[in-house]
Amino acid sequence: MKVILAKNSGFCFGVERAMDSTLDAINIKKNVSSLGPLIHNKQVTDDLKKKGLNTISDIDTINNGTIIIRSHGISKDIHEKLSSRNIEILDLTCPFVRKIQKKVQKFYNKGYNIIIIGDPNHPEVIGINGWCENSADIFNSKDDIDNSKKYDKICIVAQTTMNYEKFKLLSDIVSKNAEEVLIYNTICNATKLRQTSCREVASDVDAMIVIGGYHSSNTQKLVEISKEICKDTYHIETVDDLNLEKLKKYNVVGITAGASTPDWIIKEVVNRVSNIDNEMNKMMEEIEKTLV
Ligand code: F3S
Repeated sequence: MKVILAKNSGFCFGVERAMDSTLDAINIKKNVSSLGPLIHNKQVTDDLKKKGLNTISDIDTINNGTIIIRSHGISKDIHEKLSSRNIEILDLTCPFVRKIQKKVQKFYNKGYNIIIIGDPNHPEVIGINGWCENSADIFNSKDDIDNSKKYDKICIVAQTTMNYEKFKLLSDIVSKNAEEVLIYNTICNATKLRQTSCREVASDVDAMIVIGGYHSSNTQKLVEISKEICKDTYHIETVDDLNLEKLKKYNVVGITAGASTPDWIIKEVVNRVSNIDNEMNKMMEEIEKTLV
């Protein structure tokens, strides 16, 4: 079986930076907590827990030590609350997310209605909305848009991991309801590159494997994109989720991974899939032995 690994896959710049700084912090400090899981990858967060990182969901449960703001960022309100306490803040908000927060705050203060194209339940989007006093209208599908609502001035931004086609479609629809429109395509470069590589590989293979947390937004987008091109797309978190029996029928398999998937998980999957033919032969030999 031939295996093609997408050129741009795995840890992005923002996740890499968050991981490195967090590992440094837990090596030299005591009582380090992350506000929410550091990244959307269970294997990585389990490992960080073993190394000493606490994960909290409510800032009122912490009064001292160091608190890590993960790459998704947080609202202005929570930032202010944390700053007023005796807590050291290690702000690892991805610079691309911080840029969106600043833009949203600037145009909100200039009287624009903020529109975010993204998932209203995702921590990055919740955080961004917190820089315009939670006033943004958030659209994740055509059905979310109320065409009877007319706007004077709108400023549209995207969740960093949004699929560009969807961003374009929803921005075009909502733009028709406003007198003045500013559109900022704030999908980050790492996302663009991963989505482009995923498309390229998916169009050249019989099946695709997308590796990444089941709750990871950017991984889910890769799965969506891959399925549009290659219907036999499998979303897995680790090598243990591979279904070798199903995969053995394919000649060429593509592999990609979300921005919060570490290299060691990708390598394990690539090795196992590359060795499927050997593994299946071994299994057949074992079965034949038991039949003799
Ligand atoms: Fe930052 Fe983009 Fe990664 S926003 S955290 S570089 S997916």
